[in-house]
Amino acid sequence: MTKVSNRSQQLSLSPIRKLVPFADAAEARGTKVYYLNIGQPDIKTPPKAIQRLKETPIDILKYSPSSGINSYRKKLPKYFKRYGIQVVPEDIMITTGASEAIFLSLMAIMDIGDELIIPEPFYANYSGFAAMAGVKIVPVTSSIENNFALPPVHFIQEKITPKTKAILLCNPNNPTGYVYPRSVLEELSSIVKAKGIYLIIDEVYREFVYNDTPFCSGLELPGMKQEIVIVDSISKRYSACGARVGSIITRNHALLRAILKYAQFRLSSPGLGQILAEAAIDLAPTYLEEVTTEYDRRRQHLFARLSAIPKVICYLPEGAFYLFAQLPIDNADRFCQWLLESFSHEGQTVMLAPGSGFYASPGLGEKEIRIAYVLNTKDLDAAMDCLEIALAKYPGRD
Ligand SMILES: Cc1ncc(COP(=O)(O)O)c(C=O)c1O
Repeated sequence: MTKVSNRSQQLSLSPIRKLVPFADAAEARGTKVYYLNIGQPDIKTPPKAIQRLKETPIDILKYSPSSGINSYRKKLPKYFKRYGIQVVPEDIMITTGASEAIFLSLMAIMDIGDELIIPEPFYANYSGFAAMAGVKIVPVTSSIENNFALPPVHFIQEKITPKTKAILLCNPNNPTGYVYPRSVLEELSSIVKAKGIYLIIDEVYREFVYNDTPFCSGLELPGMKQEIVIVDSISKRYSACGARVGSIITRNHALLRAILKYAQFRLSSPGLGQILAEAAIDLAPTYLEEVTTEYDRRRQHLFARLSAIPKVICYLPEGAFYLFAQLPIDNADRFCQWLLESFSHEGQTVMLAPGSGFYASPGLGEKEIRIAYVLNTKDLDAAMDCLEIALAKYPGRD
């Protein structure tokens, strides 16, 4: 009798994807499903970048260098320079999406049993990467009453033990939309510097900031050559999730040398995706401005619709393209499954991500859901019609 590892048995399915079989079954019954469970935008991947990829002469699809295609690594500093950030190609490791960037960073920084502090709710896949690296997540809980702002930093400081090797932030935040002000990042950087630990910041949504607080990258924090590790990706920026191209940016070259060992074992990141990524750097800055304006429109629309539904608790997110709301229901896992299994309105329904999988603390998020505003306002409207009617009909309504 064969068995799977204890590690695999302890892993949970992703809250973002675990209900997919129910969505497939709903579609098989002819129900239209609005997918607001996953950060897969309906925005077109820039045609100019796709065209450049098509025009690239390719006779052998070779492995690329483990750190990334040289011309792409050399060009990336141009992208950062637009934001006033100075980096050199030697600070950059190209990865297979931000997903691999996070995993490789954890592998290079942490040993089995080490502790990683993360504000919760957090991007659910961090749990998976931590489990794969044998690392324990120590959560610091933020709450919907405060629009999921980071609790005062002394709460983080109190969690640091000799086993703590890093703090992991997502800025702008998935799933809450919170944007870390510069002052908070500076406070955190003093803490990590004093303790000799890392501050890993996942900045895959760095462009999508809608309020007046300007986005502050970890790369802008002065005197943090050793401690700061930035995770980046083209998945969201250029609506190119399938290209599977991300990066790690750090001025800590000893750390990059450690990461390179893992990168060599996996050979290389997708070459075709990197050609597309390199072409995207030449897009006019207006491309990203227009996309951000579109997400802002969706954000306002979603917030207006949700706020009008009785007993739904929500807030206007400041960044990324997610909203984490509390619903008047008994249990979000049951509700999200019910939406797909037992509900439809005019042949349509909506798929949402249940909240509990975004927390490390047991019992939290049971009435919360994450909504990704990745669909155009017309589709968002139809999805919100479904949600509103579903909440009125759901047998487990609070
Ligand atoms: C915060 C965050 N980090 C990382 C990822 C993974 O990105 P990639 O497609 O580059 O692996 C996502 C995807 O949704 C994300 O939201």
